[in-house]
Amino acid sequence: MRVFWAAFVALVVISFSHLAVAQSIEEKAAVCAGCHGENGKPVSPEIPVIWGQKEGYLYLQLRDLKRGDRKNEIMSGIAAGLEKEDMQALAKYFSEKPWTNLQQKSADSATAGQAQKVASSAQCEGCHLSGYLGDSTIPRLAGQSEAYMLKTMTEFRSGERTNNAWMVTLLKSYTESDVAALAKYIAGL
Ligand code: HEC
Ligand code: HEC
Repeated sequence: MRVFWAAFVALVVISFSHLAVAQSIEEKAAVCAGCHGENGKPVSPEIPVIWGQKEGYLYLQLRDLKRGDRKNEIMSGIAAGLEKEDMQALAKYFSEKPWTNLQQKSADSATAGQAQKVASSAQCEGCHLSGYLGDSTIPRLAGQSEAYMLKTMTEFRSGERTNNAWMVTLLKSYTESDVAALAKYIAGL
């Protein structure tokens, strides 16, 4: 699988560097569709939904990935080939698409109860807003892929994803089981 991604990324990076000048935003976005999905449904559960995600948040992630403040073996290489104007245009383009319903199951009542207890003590909705819909540079979480949220929250906890100090400190204060409950509950909203 890794080998496949590496080859794919190399291809993507090459196509960006050769065509950067002539490509329209639709052509650039078509490259993203290879993983984030033709119609907004990512091709694998560990890839986040970006259709309908908040514009400010999308831009900041691309910027952080290019700077190296956020690292990912796949996205870092892709972001490296983007200029600021591309990132701004791609963030706007994807934020204006409709959010995709991944049809994830709602959490059972015990899991939902555990998640809600943590969420109220951690004030998750204080920042991510009512219904976890996000705004501006705060990401929407409602209906985001469970596997992706679990992975990224685990990486905040382990210090692998450090581009937001608040999320790192906050999630470190909860258990693995709490984080799994949160991912399941929020994914099913
Ligand atoms: C080869 C597959 C692949 C391609 C092509 C790809 N992405 Fe990604 N993208 C990923 C993966 C995997 C992640 C999750 C990274 C992580 O776990 O930290 C991701 C994460 C992201 C994120 C962070 C989302 C979040 O919720 O934090 C943004 C923004 C993003 N990609 C935008 C893009 C854009 C724009 C393009 C096209 C220029 C693109 N991606 C092309 C695989 C890909
Ligand atoms: C003080 C405000 C604040 C609070 C409280 C907060 N968050 Fe966040 N959260 C953020 C910000 C800002 C980001 C974006 C970080 C970045 O730019 O990388 C984020 C990112 C995330 C992400 C990554 C989303 C993605 O697409 O990669 C997840 C998942 C998340 N938060 C879950 C939670 C949960 C669950 C709680 C409660 C336990 C919570 N957050 C509480 C501000 C907050």
